[in-house]
Amino acid sequence: MKPSVILYKALPDDLLARLEDHFTVTRVKNLSPETVAQHAEAFAQAEGLLGSSEKVDQALLDNMPALRASSTISVGYDNFDVDALSARHIALMHTPTVLTETVADTLMALVLTTARRVVEVAERVKNGEWTKSIGPDWFGSDVHHKTLGIVGMGRIGLALAQRAHFGFGMPILYNARSHHQQAEERFNARYCDLDTLLKEADFVCVVLPLTAETHHLFNADKLALMKPSAILINAGRGPVVDEAALIAALQAGKIRAAGLDVFEQEPLPVDSPLLKMPNVVALPHIGSATHETRYNMAACAVDNLIDALNGKTDNNCVNPQAVNK
Ligand code: DGY
Repeated sequence: MKPSVILYKALPDDLLARLEDHFTVTRVKNLSPETVAQHAEAFAQAEGLLGSSEKVDQALLDNMPALRASSTISVGYDNFDVDALSARHIALMHTPTVLTETVADTLMALVLTTARRVVEVAERVKNGEWTKSIGPDWFGSDVHHKTLGIVGMGRIGLALAQRAHFGFGMPILYNARSHHQQAEERFNARYCDLDTLLKEADFVCVVLPLTAETHHLFNADKLALMKPSAILINAGRGPVVDEAALIAALQAGKIRAAGLDVFEQEPLPVDSPLLKMPNVVALPHIGSATHETRYNMAACAVDNLIDALNGKTDNNCVNPQAVNK
């Protein structure tokens, strides 16, 4: 008999077929208590779980006594209770490699869009305001050769550094848990403490995962260290930045602009003050959202689940030590 899995995200047909070759699949819309009650038997029998963007906590796990592996279609896994999974030796699989270049593209897009005020001036054109040759009130600031600060030098930080160094001649500062030899040798990146980075960078790009240590790391005190001409870019996780403090800093003109792909609450509430600010570019968490990359992430997650349920957790596993015990 094939192992049972719960699928809580739509998959392209060919990937669904691949999943169904290996498993008996129960498709559900989401992971709410109502869904669990509706499919109680399937949840009770499920050995695998596949999807993204839903909370997987102790309460859910209590309904899944047979669970052996959970595979998320994302690199981030802050919505999982990893300790609860590990305590039961359940493998947590993710997709850390396939989205790197696409998310770095998104970061670079935010750098360019905020500095050159692309969205704001394009809106003015659409509104019929381009009636004569433009003056300084339409101008932006340069990107090339400005200093880029990268907070979090993982795969995505490195891909961003590559773009900035070779494409835009930008000096790069970075802060991370440890020195990154490749970033220093290939992109001439300079390691510095966070406060120095905040004081010196023209662009501060946040590429950090959400953990207890990074929650609200960018608070009012940290934002106050940035130059008034500097721009904050966040494409990691919303709660890494204290959004109220960011709004206050923008309103007071303490920083020049913000490019945000992630927010404390997603979708961003329509009454957020951020949406009223012309110097804020707000994106709907599109970091990895291209057809190609979302397909590759889903394919990777399917393969990860097949591997994990076959006892293979040497790749893409968040908690291999807990599983292999
Ligand atoms: C991830 O994979 O964690 C990203 O946030 C999705 O774009």
